[in-house]
Amino acid sequence: MSNVYVFDHPLIQHKLTYIRDKNTGTKEFRELVDEVAALMAYEITRDMPLRDVTVETPVATAKCKVLEGKKLGLVPILRAGLGMVDGILKLIPTAKVGHIGLYRDPETLEPVQYYSKMPSDIGERDLIVIDPMLATGGSAAEAIRILKEMGAKNIKLMCLIAAPEGIERVQKDHSDVDIYVAAVDEKLNEKSYIVPGLGDAGDRLFGTK
Ligand code: PRP
Ligand code: URA
Repeated sequence: MSNVYVFDHPLIQHKLTYIRDKNTGTKEFRELVDEVAALMAYEITRDMPLRDVTVETPVATAKCKVLEGKKLGLVPILRAGLGMVDGILKLIPTAKVGHIGLYRDPETLEPVQYYSKMPSDIGERDLIVIDPMLATGGSAAEAIRILKEMGAKNIKLMCLIAAPEGIERVQKDHSDVDIYVAAVDEKLNEKSYIVPGLGDAGDRLFGTK
């Protein structure tokens, strides 16, 4: 069974509160999502492997560590996942970015794929699938399925807010994928929106309605 990690860092929780607030406008919403994504990237990369090196300081030889250089890939689910990419790239600028275009059919709630473009070596990369919202879990589960079909082996899922139903779905379909979130909310409403959630993440990020 995959693990679920809830990032309870005070800065993440503080910023998430303003992300949720319906009075937060597009510009501030975008900035806050970017900041929280960076803070979550800081937490999610805790287990990145290091190797020993030595450097000459002006004073002496120092035994130090640098990142081993494991290849990373970010995979935002379009379109709302895009809002989290830059924040993560600030910390991990060498990560490659693949894109999966999925939208949730408003009638059936099933994910519909309309785009995908991945780095050619995704089978060798540790991938982080990014989407602010994990509601029914249909979009994330489908994105992960597509990536596995393309040869991906190591996948993490990073979301701002998850509903219990979405977590259950990903755990059922992809028990090898750990899930990293800033909050697990109460439930889904009759339109499968997360309650209390933040509303429509894509619309709030891009100012559409
Ligand atoms: C939202 C969100 C997720 C999906 C979550 O995208 O960004 O991708 O819904 O719902 P699910 O867990 O029930 O699948 P949406 O389909 O609204 O597309 P958009 O990002 O283009 O607005
Ligand atoms: N997609 C969103 O953007 N918000 C939700 O609450 C559910 C799906």
